[in-house]
Amino acid sequence: AEGDAAKGESEFKKCKACHMIVADDGTEIQKGGKTGPNLYGVVGRAAGAVEDFKYSEVMEEAGEKGLVWTEETLVAYLPDPTKFLEEFSGDDKGKSKMTFKLAKGAEDIAAYLASVAQ
Ligand code: HEM
Repeated sequence: AEGDAAKGESEFKKCKACHMIVADDGTEIQKGGKTGPNLYGVVGRAAGAVEDFKYSEVMEEAGEKGLVWTEETLVAYLPDPTKFLEEFSGDDKGKSKMTFKLAKGAEDIAAYLASVAQ
């Protein structure tokens, strides 16, 4: 199912405790916390690629194994980050630093994130 980017933009409020969206020129598209990495341009980017952000081991492993964020991989990741990263990396003791689990609406948020930075 195609996500609704406009809905996803308002749903992004669930992410703002930990994530901001700040363009390369410093424009603040979404104000937010710094517990998680900047999500500007995340769709199309390799997992674990924000410089200076200290990711979990399992996120780094997944990135090394070729995980790239797309609308599809985001929809698979957001409901249970640790489970998804364990499966992708093959490391069954990995623990993502993202403890938040999105119950519903991942398609919409993924469509919104894809619409930012293009
Ligand atoms: C990582 C999305 C909510 C904390 C990530 C990544 C994405 C993402 C795509 C990987 C980024 C990368 O590889 O550079 C989202 C979305 C959210 C959300 C769309 C809302 C639906 C949250 C919340 C928290 C959080 C509420 C804090 C309570 C983190 C942390 C990481 C992370 C700490 C790094 C994970 C690791 O290294 O294992 N998030 N996130 N996120 N997020 Fe979130």
